[in-house]
Amino acid sequence: MSQSDRFLRACRQQPVDATPVWLMRQAGRYMAEYRTLRQKYSILELIKTPELATEVTMQPINAFNLDAAIIFADILTILEGLGLGLDFVRGEGPIIHNPVRSAADIEALTVRPPEETLGFTLEAIKLTRRELAGKVPLIGFSGAPFTLASYAIEGGSSRNYITAKSLMYGQPQSWHKMMDKFAVAIGQYLRAQAEAGAQALQLFDSWVGALSPADYREFVLPHSQKAIEIATAGSDVPLIHFGTGTAGMLPLLKEAGGSVIGVDWRLDMADAVQILGDDVALQGNLDPVVLFAPVKEIQRQAALVLDSVSGRDGHIFNLGHGILQHTPVEHVAALVDFVHEYSARL
Ligand code: CP3
Repeated sequence: MSQSDRFLRACRQQPVDATPVWLMRQAGRYMAEYRTLRQKYSILELIKTPELATEVTMQPINAFNLDAAIIFADILTILEGLGLGLDFVRGEGPIIHNPVRSAADIEALTVRPPEETLGFTLEAIKLTRRELAGKVPLIGFSGAPFTLASYAIEGGSSRNYITAKSLMYGQPQSWHKMMDKFAVAIGQYLRAQAEAGAQALQLFDSWVGALSPADYREFVLPHSQKAIEIATAGSDVPLIHFGTGTAGMLPLLKEAGGSVIGVDWRLDMADAVQILGDDVALQGNLDPVVLFAPVKEIQRQAALVLDSVSGRDGHIFNLGHGILQHTPVEHVAALVDFVHEYSARL
């Protein structure tokens, strides 16, 4: 078995020679190579220039012994295609200039073919596949309906999602109409990424843990399910369904779909196995802040994660959420190598 197979085999719950590892947000500001490019280009320029997106995607692959690449893009670019104005403002994060607040705003959201609105990312996927030359598989991704709705309605990052939830509770019909548009746009975008060459897909529902399980079931699950169905119908592309703060709703995430469920560090992996059963693969779940600890402690904590799922096929090692900005790069290298060495001995 070669390194090129490990990740996809684990997604399919097949035995592997060592546990595959990749890190959410593995391309980014903690790497000097990325910061150098960012001095010349904005994040949207990097994303919208396929050659640059490919270069950034390859940076962590060239620096570490990772088992998968993830295309350099952002979950929010899909909102531009729907008619929303997107900017990243230094120090403030993402801004939506014309947030969705009324039934008329929802009416105005238009689902266009991904080839028209997100062709740059599809092109970057084709270029990156050539550049990777089979070394490791390439993951495509999208934000999930709830997480995208939270940005579209709040107009940026949020703490309590009061505006988004107010629309959800106060105008449920409009909410469902909007979520259906997101589901179709997301499903088609993911599907187009797979057709362009992405060998696995990840749906990021990063902020879904803000919801009660009952609200997830009523207001979100059918839409995530529809997006996943459109994305994967008639194909065997693995899909990783990820969220944070989901300990109380993991069976619902599984019901919505995905061959792999991504979990954060607030739940022990052994408990995730108990909750989810044997018929789905798992991804996770080291606390990203552990990467700031001494290497010995990083190794101890990574071993705890690996031990908690040892003997069960279908584990992809990852952080429980994206890698943080000031993470020491040598700690990343040490983690990746340790995961391979330790899991090969288990
Ligand atoms: O994983 C990868 O290497 C692929 C690249 C990737 C980016 N964003 C690039 C990016 C991925 C997978 C994302 C997903 C994403 N984007 C999520 C879901 C993942 C998660 O962490 O929950 C979310 C919520 C976003 C939205 C987003 N994009 C925010 C809130 C910000 C600003 C945050 C900040 O720290 O400024 C971004 C910008 C962004 N997207 C950066 C990167 C590398 C940093 C921007 C920069 O270079 O200045």
